[in-house]
Amino acid sequence: MFPELNTSRLTLRQFRQDDLEPICENINNFEVSKMLTVVPYPYTKADGEWWLNHISETPLTQETNWAIESELGFAGVITIRIGESGVPLIGYWLGQPFWGKGYMSEATEAVVNYCFETLGVTKVTSGAFEENDGSLNVLAKNGFQTVGTQPEKSRARGEEDITLINVELTRDLWEAMRAVAV
Ligand SMILES: CC(C)(COP(=O)(O)OP(=O)(O)OC[C@H]1O[C@@H](n2cnc3c(N)ncnc32)[C@H](O)[C@@H]1OP(=O)(O)O)[C@@H](O)C(=O)NCCC(=O)NCCS
Repeated sequence: MFPELNTSRLTLRQFRQDDLEPICENINNFEVSKMLTVVPYPYTKADGEWWLNHISETPLTQETNWAIESELGFAGVITIRIGESGVPLIGYWLGQPFWGKGYMSEATEAVVNYCFETLGVTKVTSGAFEENDGSLNVLAKNGFQTVGTQPEKSRARGEEDITLINVELTRDLWEAMRAVAV
């Protein structure tokens, strides 16, 4: 069963076919795709159809993609990919009209809690380009710590190498943060 998650303002839900239009509308924006590794720009309807099909064919144990539903409707995506190591890698994007409202900090907290509480993992990882202050702030607010850097490409930008900052949150730190928050 799909693990729908609720936060105070958001519902993280399963994708539907009628998300195609808002996905394309929000991600066909270079300001969004230039911060992502695998998303093309421009982004066509065929790209969106391919992606919805990919989601429906991929087991949740390998990849879980949540549609972020705000008070104003579809706002973006948050994903975990679980590799052979069993460690989830979080990725996300919001349409530009939804930036700066604390939505991604809220969505990330819910997905991190899901990873530790429901999946029972020992750590969660993520990463962001060094110029992506917004994403690095989301990750830092949720307790992620830098563990290294690597050169990475953004499909939307082409062959240019960009420094990716790798981060992780261990279960020990997550538990310590929760103990302080209570
Ligand atoms: C990065 C992104 C997910 C941030 O989401 P968001 O919901 O706007 O982030 P939040 O509102 O939760 O902000 C978290 C913190 O970062 C700060 N912040 C947000 N955007 C910022 C920016 N562009 N520059 C500097 N700080 C920023 C916020 O002020 C907030 O700090 P505060 O709690 O101290 O006030 C969103 O801008 C986005 O989707 N960008 C394009 C795609 C992308 O970068 N995806 C991530 C790839 S790693």
